[in-house]
Amino acid sequence: MNTIVIYKSKYGSTKQYAEWIAEELGCSATNAKDIKAAELEKYDNIIFGGGMYSESIDGVSLITKNFDKLNDKKVVIFTVGLTDPGHKKYYKSVADRNLSPEIQSRVKIFNLPGRMIMEDLSFVHRKELGVLKAILSKKTDLSEDGKLLLELCDNSNDFMDKDAIAPIVAEFKK
Ligand SMILES: Cc1cc2nc3c(=O)[nH]c(=O)nc-3n(C[C@H](O)[C@H](O)[C@H](O)COP(=O)(O)O)c2cc1C
Repeated sequence: MNTIVIYKSKYGSTKQYAEWIAEELGCSATNAKDIKAAELEKYDNIIFGGGMYSESIDGVSLITKNFDKLNDKKVVIFTVGLTDPGHKKYYKSVADRNLSPEIQSRVKIFNLPGRMIMEDLSFVHRKELGVLKAILSKKTDLSEDGKLLLELCDNSNDFMDKDAIAPIVAEFKK
């Protein structure tokens, strides 16, 4: 079977997961910017990973916009974010925001824990976090997920975990 891992990563955490998965599966990991939609047709298995930015899965439009060409393929999408992958409600809302019900019914989605190092962030991303914090801090009825995200906005955190790729690898080693 012909398999490819494609990633979109701003600070390297999604890239790192993509490389770990590719290494385990003996295939290549390719930056989304280096692949054209037409090339997807060559593969039987497509694994796409994107970092999460304000609840959007970075680069996932490569999959969603070309989904009609992927009918006969096995497609897996993984997200990388700071929110604990155990927060099922949060990740369901992320899936609903980014993927149509049809796509959700036909792909497997995995959520992996990421990393954010304050000193590395671009000016634009620092600003974006500032705006997010301001919005969250003003809410009087902030959910538990919201409180957690607010805390995560303030500090560097590294939750990278190589073992988290195991369920994705298992999908293709059955
Ligand atoms: C501006 C900004 C917005 C973010 N928004 C979210 C978010 O909505 N949910 C989340 O879980 N993590 C969020 N994160 C954390 C990133 O998803 C995390 O740093 C991830 O590891 C980045 O992946 P990458 O380095 O591959 O781009 C955000 C980070 C930044 C800088």
